[in-house]
Amino acid sequence: MAAGSSSGALLTLRVLLFCALAAAATTLLPLATSPCTHSLSRSILAATGLDPYLFSCAGGDASEAPLLSQGDDGANKTGGSGARRPIVTDQLCVKGKLPPHALPPFQCCPPVSASEPINFTLPDPSEPLRTRRPVHVVGAEYMAKYTRAVALMKALPRSDPRSFYQQANVHCAYCTGAHRQVGRPDLGVQIHFSWLFFPFHRAYLYFFERIAAKLLGEPGFALPVWSWDVPEGMGIPEVFTDEASPLYDPIRELSHAPPKVADLDFFLGGEKNLTDEQQVLHNLRVMYKQMISGAALPSLFLGQPYRTGDAPMPGPGTVEWAPHNTMHTWTGDNSLPNVENMGVYYSAGRDPLFYPHHANIDRLWEAWRGIAGADGRRHEDFTDPDWLDSSFLLYDEEARLVRITVRDVLNTERLRYRYGGVGLPWLSARPPVTPGVNPKGGRLESVRFPVSLDTAVTAEVRRPPRAQRRSLQEKQAQEEVLVVEGIEADAGDFVRFDVYVNAREYYKVPLGGREMAGSFTTLKHPGKEGTVVRTSMTVALNELLEDLGAEGDDSVTVSLVPVRGKVRIGGLRIVYMEE
Ligand code: C2O
Repeated sequence: MAAGSSSGALLTLRVLLFCALAAAATTLLPLATSPCTHSLSRSILAATGLDPYLFSCAGGDASEAPLLSQGDDGANKTGGSGARRPIVTDQLCVKGKLPPHALPPFQCCPPVSASEPINFTLPDPSEPLRTRRPVHVVGAEYMAKYTRAVALMKALPRSDPRSFYQQANVHCAYCTGAHRQVGRPDLGVQIHFSWLFFPFHRAYLYFFERIAAKLLGEPGFALPVWSWDVPEGMGIPEVFTDEASPLYDPIRELSHAPPKVADLDFFLGGEKNLTDEQQVLHNLRVMYKQMISGAALPSLFLGQPYRTGDAPMPGPGTVEWAPHNTMHTWTGDNSLPNVENMGVYYSAGRDPLFYPHHANIDRLWEAWRGIAGADGRRHEDFTDPDWLDSSFLLYDEEARLVRITVRDVLNTERLRYRYGGVGLPWLSARPPVTPGVNPKGGRLESVRFPVSLDTAVTAEVRRPPRAQRRSLQEKQAQEEVLVVEGIEADAGDFVRFDVYVNAREYYKVPLGGREMAGSFTTLKHPGKEGTVVRTSMTVALNELLEDLGAEGDDSVTVSLVPVRGKVRIGGLRIVYMEE
């Protein structure tokens, strides 16, 4: 592609970098060794390797670094050399890494295709438009179809890539590093904790649905959706709990069987014991934060860039943290060390509830695109060709191996499906502010990053220059973002910490209060027992600071509160992001 034509499409990640590690820490840090001229996504990657860059940004002075990419042509940003680096899945698949105590089968590579993969082509526009609707809306007759489809898939021989066994394995292969990257046989493909999350799962469901339709002989068959974000859908649908049904999975958390209301904010061992009404309200506020105030930019919603050669898991978007991860953990058997089946990547696809769960995740992507941001324009996906050209290998309904790119899956109507039958009740669930939890005065104890989060840590983080005086247009153009970087979490555990803004007395903030700005929450990372997940977290601040009446302040107070598991934090800073 010619540079001229690609430049407009490139992800323009213009970042005014302002390095605001907790001010007190700056004196302890080495002098800057390089200027802060990385793009944000690149700096996050660097930081996750605990690169000295983290410290190099600790000048502490509110000097404004140059814009990284000015106008169209600076768009290149992360590659350095400007070379294109999409992650392309190779046919080569090795034995993935599974956690200790994993349940068989232990091998999840797909059957080898006799022929080369074919390139994806869109379905004929005259095909019926499937409408995926919620389980609680479609009724028993419809669910009987999904049940039959799963039964038919389960009845296929295991060697058939369309069998339920192989379909479950697809997820296992793509999350345990089994699939190799083209040109990098040393690197696996990881489709979680990055910008591959939404498009991979969309492509996966697309073929799963078409396989089901083909087996049923019903071209219009559409997957049911587990809409856990609307009050009527907040719980495991009854039809999945009939022990005689092919939809039943015995390896689930029994105490979360219906009529238990789901906790979208769940973590292992963290039963909230709320009334149903309280839980529903809390869930709606979680949705509001994850879909609206926290998700103003593509990378905040879709996840951080991940290109070939990069360390995996640079950082997920809001919805992947929660409710995605949280609902996986909530559904799996909490008494098992890995919380199978739903609670751990390698086995999640073995539960027939996985597919309606992910249909809801996919529906939320569509919903996000339909929501207008602060500037009144609808959210848009990345236009970075590395994202668009990343590709996956999946078997279609004719058992042909297909190469499908991210670009191929961006328009659901072209894929001949859409969502219907459900609203977005959380649009108006803006969380309330808690008065009196951030008494001023009295110096905060200095924090020395990197820090082990054994107890809660509260730090003052300086805002970028002129942050207090930004015009409405500037705010609309650039999101102020808190970056929690250099996060190292115990990969062998379910880890969670919460991020509060302007709440020194965070323990007084009621559940779901506005000051609770985000939660870091992981599933166990396959095969990495005893090692660490390195990643980062980004938290949008524009609307939050507006609600907290803190737009005029020079700095914000950030509290990192450990909830579960071992985690280390590299640093905190606030930047402007624009994509
Ligand atoms: Cu690929 Cu819900 O996980």
